[in-house]
Amino acid sequence: MSRTPLIAGNWKMHKTVEEAEDFIQGLLPRVYAADGVDVGLCAPFTALTALIDSTRGSRVEVYAQNMHQAESGAFTGEISAGMLAELEVHGAVLGHSERREHFGETDAALAEKVVAALGAELRPILCVGESQAEREGGRMEEKLRTQVTEGLAKVPDEQLGDVVIAYEPIWAIGTGLTASPEQAQEACAYVRSLVAERSAEQAERLRVLYGGSMKPENAAELLALPDCDGGLIGGASLDPESLGAIVDAAG
Ligand code: 13P
Repeated sequence: MSRTPLIAGNWKMHKTVEEAEDFIQGLLPRVYAADGVDVGLCAPFTALTALIDSTRGSRVEVYAQNMHQAESGAFTGEISAGMLAELEVHGAVLGHSERREHFGETDAALAEKVVAALGAELRPILCVGESQAEREGGRMEEKLRTQVTEGLAKVPDEQLGDVVIAYEPIWAIGTGLTASPEQAQEACAYVRSLVAERSAEQAERLRVLYGGSMKPENAAELLALPDCDGGLIGGASLDPESLGAIVDAAG
């Protein structure tokens, strides 16, 4: 089965509305002709509406970077799946390692968030990945198994392929260190095999992205890996030319 690659820029806490508008005016002509590639921008909440308006009718999808699992309630500062769906957002990044580390995001909460997103017809991009110490201690597979199986625990088998999983080794995020093609392939294939334990058919549909210092210079060899179906890109997604070059590498 052929899976359409997804190249998603994760802006993290970067870009005001005005900066987001400038960026999108640069990106749209740059990716206009890209065929057979989905392009996503994961933007701060404040820039979502402007991006949805300016990307309407284009190939660019807009994602939030977090959401709460409850429909509504006394959760000051949080945003629900329904609120994002109302804006016509396409999906949400869930469980980024920065949220796990700095904001105490747990696998149990993520299990709820993934189903809440699917229930609102949002595409979840569930992030998983090991730290340097876990890799060096031979615990990469154990970490990925926990994060993938717990994060997907509440998703019905027949919907597993609607989830996107981003494999982001923590040691490669924002460090300039990139996983070697062998390391990325091994981990992405392992993530897919974990989903295949529940449904081989859905594992074939599931897109597994690589994230961690992906840039125009290394994108082509990572995106050519059999189990890597795209990228989640931080630093290199802040400039339309650089994100555009990564989209080209996926096409
Ligand atoms: P960098 O591309 O800056 O390493 O960030 C990766 C990332 O965390 C994307 O979610």
